[in-house]
Amino acid sequence: MPGFEVIDEKEKKAISRIFDEGKVFFAHGFDKKRKHYHVREFEQELKTVFSPKMADVLCVSSGTAAIKVALKALGVGKGDEVITQSFNFIATVEAIIDTGANVVFTDIDDTLNMCPKNLESLISKKTKAIIPVHMLGVPAEMILINRIGKRNKIPVVEDACEAIGAKVAGKYVGGLSEFGVFSFDFGKMITTGEGGALFSKKKSDGKNARMYHDHGHKNIPNLPRGLDHAGLIGFNYRMTEISGAFGKVQLKKFPSILRDSKKRYHALEKCIYHKDIKFRHVYSGSEPNYDTFVISIENKKLRNQVISLLNKAGFGTKNLPDAFNWHCAYFWEHVDKNIRNKEVKSCYDRLLKCVAIPILVSKSIKDYKKIASDINECSE
Ligand SMILES: Cc1ncc(COP(=O)(O)O)c(C=O)c1O
Repeated sequence: MPGFEVIDEKEKKAISRIFDEGKVFFAHGFDKKRKHYHVREFEQELKTVFSPKMADVLCVSSGTAAIKVALKALGVGKGDEVITQSFNFIATVEAIIDTGANVVFTDIDDTLNMCPKNLESLISKKTKAIIPVHMLGVPAEMILINRIGKRNKIPVVEDACEAIGAKVAGKYVGGLSEFGVFSFDFGKMITTGEGGALFSKKKSDGKNARMYHDHGHKNIPNLPRGLDHAGLIGFNYRMTEISGAFGKVQLKKFPSILRDSKKRYHALEKCIYHKDIKFRHVYSGSEPNYDTFVISIENKKLRNQVISLLNKAGFGTKNLPDAFNWHCAYFWEHVDKNIRNKEVKSCYDRLLKCVAIPILVSKSIKDYKKIASDINECSE
């Protein structure tokens, strides 16, 4: 979340510098006019910071586009099935449907992410990809999910859009499977206004992804783009140089974003001790990105009191329940009119009890201690 909160003169200068350095806003070509290839540089920096071992990092126009590009690079299409989780954002589902594939929803576990056991039971001959989503900054059970993917020879696409900076066994999410996806939209840990990145483990997948996001261009070195060849039927999901330059500045701020978020998150973790409030589960060995602190409250009256406190104090409750409809498959009858199956219903029942407390760096640690103390005072 905090990316937008830390925007200042540095981002402004980075963009105005493009005007002074040849006014090239396109990621390709115009070699003599430009001093930088901002998108390409941003990709290299993302790779260095988050996953040097991945074969390729590709910047695209959004997180939604990155998911679609990953699925297209894998050749997912009509009649295939892609498994993802019921606590999600509609974008992931839209990207799957846009390839022509059908969506299969899993239930969630105590992390509120994909339940590995349920995933295994839903795999069929038609399954072509698995998309666990690290919702609200907490990693899914990736060790088990990757193991299931490997055993069944099904690639895993980690949707890390909401979890930039979270880790599993010391490694950043987004670099743990065949593909990883980041979003840089305006509500994410790092923002470029709109934008996304796709991490590919295999060189061949990365190559397909690059071609697909750029009308199929092979971008053969030393050959003008006009004479270039198409490697496949693609689309335009390119990132602009404005976003690339913006992203490089945000990435430099990322260590302080993470550090400041962590302090606020820990203040809530330490200071909320209400007997009727449970914390979201984080697996040992995994680390959230401290973007959101999620609590669960069985009693409806108490829950509503906490929600009202958070709204009055200007925190809001993000996806749970402020934007519940957009983040739970239970509400997506426009996707499938029979969507309310046992997995989806079980996810809805669990999420109904949850309240998300956003971590904002514009709020002080004192503000977080105060809201924790006010929450402790609530009684039904
Ligand atoms: C889990 C998840 N997946 C995908 C997306 C799509 O990202 P974008 O908004 O960059 O298209 C989002 C954005 O909110 C998201 O939260």
